Amino acid sequence: MSKRIAILGGGPSGLAVLRAFESARRKGAEIPEIVCYEKQSDCGGMWNYNWRTGLDEFGEPVHASMYRYLWSNGPKECLEFADYSFEEHFGRPIPSFPPRAVLHDYIKGRIEKSNVRGYIKLNHAVRHVTYDAGTEKFLVTVKDLKADVLETSAFDYVVCATGHFSTPNVPYFEGVEAFPGRVLHAHDFRSADEFAGKNVLLIGASYSSEDIGIQCMKYGAKSVTFSYRTKAMGFDWPEGFSEVPLLEKVVGKIAHFKDGTRKEVDAIVLCTGYLHHYPFLDDDLRLKSRNRLYPEGLYKGIFWVPNPRFMYVGAQDQFFTFNMFDAQAWYARDVVLGRIPLPDAAAMEADIKGWVAKEEALEDASQMIDFQTEYVRELILATDYPRLDVDEVARMFKEWEHHKVENILTYRDRSHRSTLTGTLAPKHHTPWMQALDDSLEAFLATMPSQAAE
Ligand SMILES: Cc1cc2nc3c(=O)[nH]c(=O)nc-3n(C[C@H](O)[C@H](O)[C@H](O)COP(=O)(O)OP(=O)(O)OC[C@H]3O[C@@H](n4cnc5c(N)ncnc54)[C@H](O)[C@@H]3O)c2cc1C
Ligand SMILES: NC(=O)c1ccc[n+]([C@@H]2O[C@H](COP(=O)([O-])OP(=O)(O)OC[C@H]3O[C@@H](n4cnc5c(N)ncnc54)[C@H](OP(=O)(O)O)[C@@H]3O)[C@@H](O)[C@H]2O)c1
Repeated sequence: MSKRIAILGGGPSGLAVLRAFESARRKGAEIPEIVCYEKQSDCGGMWNYNWRTGLDEFGEPVHASMYRYLWSNGPKECLEFADYSFEEHFGRPIPSFPPRAVLHDYIKGRIEKSNVRGYIKLNHAVRHVTYDAGTEKFLVTVKDLKADVLETSAFDYVVCATGHFSTPNVPYFEGVEAFPGRVLHAHDFRSADEFAGKNVLLIGASYSSEDIGIQCMKYGAKSVTFSYRTKAMGFDWPEGFSEVPLLEKVVGKIAHFKDGTRKEVDAIVLCTGYLHHYPFLDDDLRLKSRNRLYPEGLYKGIFWVPNPRFMYVGAQDQFFTFNMFDAQAWYARDVVLGRIPLPDAAAMEADIKGWVAKEEALEDASQMIDFQTEYVRELILATDYPRLDVDEVARMFKEWEHHKVENILTYRDRSHRSTLTGTLAPKHHTPWMQALDDSLEAFLATMPSQAAE
């Protein structure tokens, strides 16, 4: 009987695994029977916008953390699938920083083209995964949300690709329970419009804080205050923005910070990151990690060492995204197909230790980019994934970092060159700070005659 593999989640990571197996099947390989369980009514993961917050129509936790007006914060040329260019999907070059809907369209385009839809069971929430050492099978229990029934199936392999930017990390600040304004986590932020005319306080000093703060200003906030725990973002913030140390307490509407300064605020957005949260996994399968570039316990960042037939894709913090998930998916596929042998547990542990030690010695973003570049390179060289120019991607990431330092409000107006087609992206028709319509239609209205930067 053929082997069976379950893919948990139909976001970019889960879809990468489907695409990897399909690519092998088309080249003549015999592949296992695949079932991909996705709890939402469409695939695309985070990129599938949901206006809901809290629980969805079935009582499931809403996965989405993305918001209206979210535009890619990295150049699309850094995440381009090596086997499916943006130009192929859209039929022409498009600017470097697309809004969410455009990237969702691109992700789904590859899926339609590669004909893997049939493997995906939408509206199926994974409830429980357990390993039966006697039969050497994983038992996966899912809820068919529409039919309102539970079903359990046995699998030889499981790939967990349920993402790790969905369950909010929510710290407590003294007085917050009596704050007379909106308090929310970035996970529940949906639209900057509601903060027009308001003084907004954001806790955290990473991507969510930076981007939500800028969005709020773009859509008319009165002021934006960023409060950091460890290190300020340190951009040359224009008027209206300020950065202060960590919030100590809130008294009424007055926020008190560790340096003794105070500010009256109308809303508090906790941009304090996310938890790795896998409530459907038994303890012996469950990754416990903070958000980091090399989570401990995963050989090649993929294989759960106590039981490497259980795999994670997309579990690391990310500079590289879609094409890294592809690199992982192709590698995982080749292990499942017996093309790449796994070493013994001790060798896997030693390999992990080496990477973790390297990660712990990293000092800045540039070194982190190099670290993830080496990781992706190693995976790609082991499989037949098209030879992505990872050094050029790394160079673009560093250039992008420089653009952000030069001007945090205009880095999205820059153009980058595709490593696949060699095309320099055209400029968008409207500077990003003035581009208030984030629809696919408005974005694609770029005139082909508009010259690149
Ligand atoms: C606010 C925000 C902005 C981001 N912006 C960018 C950006 O600009 N550029 C970029 O490259 N990356 C960005 N990212 C990173 C983003 O997470 C990745 O691009 C990508 O979506 C990760 O893919 P994934 O498949 O690993 O996880 P996800 O996209 O999170 O997908 C996981 C999937 O698993 C499903 N799932 C979860 N639990 C279950 C369950 N129990 N049963 C069944 N299905 C389940 C979910 O419904 C979801 O579809 C952003 C992330 C966030 C949170
Ligand atoms: N397209 C976009 O524009 C966009 C927008 C938002 C998010 N994203 C993506 O979403 C992902 C998650 O980003 P993220 O910013 O949400 O998470 P993150 O990168 O993990 O950062 C979490 C932040 O929260 C802070 N923090 C955690 N606990 C805290 C506490 N108790 N008190 C104060 N601060 C605390 C951390 O501070 P320390 O530094 O002190 O640990 C850090 O600054 C990233 O991949 C990012 O690229 C993209």
